[in-house]
Amino acid sequence: MKELKFEDLFRSELEDLHDAETQILEALPKMIAASSSEELAAAFEEHLEQTREQVKRLERIFEAAGEEPGGKTCVGMQGLLREGENIISGMEKSPARDIALTAAAQKVEHYEIAGYGTVRTLAEMLGQSETAELLEETLSEEKATDDTLTEIAEAIMTGEQPAEEEIEEDEEEDEEEEEEEEVES
Ligand SMILES: [Fe+2]
Repeated sequence: MKELKFEDLFRSELEDLHDAETQILEALPKMIAASSSEELAAAFEEHLEQTREQVKRLERIFEAAGEEPGGKTCVGMQGLLREGENIISGMEKSPARDIALTAAAQKVEHYEIAGYGTVRTLAEMLGQSETAELLEETLSEEKATDDTLTEIAEAIMTGEQPAEEEIEEDEEEDEEEEEEEEVES
């Protein structure tokens, strides 16, 4: 077995995320179609747009290094998305299924939060500050999506109108946090 350098590990983790994002791009349209809540469908729709940008960000990182993402398969994401598919095929369209879909999507977000936290820190440790910033942007988006999904799930459970303002506040808070972090660094 060949000895793995930190740079190799970094690249391998980035490839894993690139494949994970590509899988998510395919899964989200099915999640949108399966949602009975308009708000949930809209949140998935928005995250689909974000995910397209996140893939581009990863590709920019590979390009800058004169590389291309290889053919690595993210087995963890395959498993998480299969759970989502099982919910779609195993339950009737209903608010309860919306909650189950939200839970499945939040597991996906948490996987990504772990993955992007790791590569962001690896980039910092390897002295690649611009790359670290790009990865931090995606990390913030994943965290904001996770918060938004919590708000939507609560609104579905209580039967109240989704707290649009709260969702916007979350996004604003995340932006503020980002700005604070930028000032600190
Ligand atoms: Fe993502």
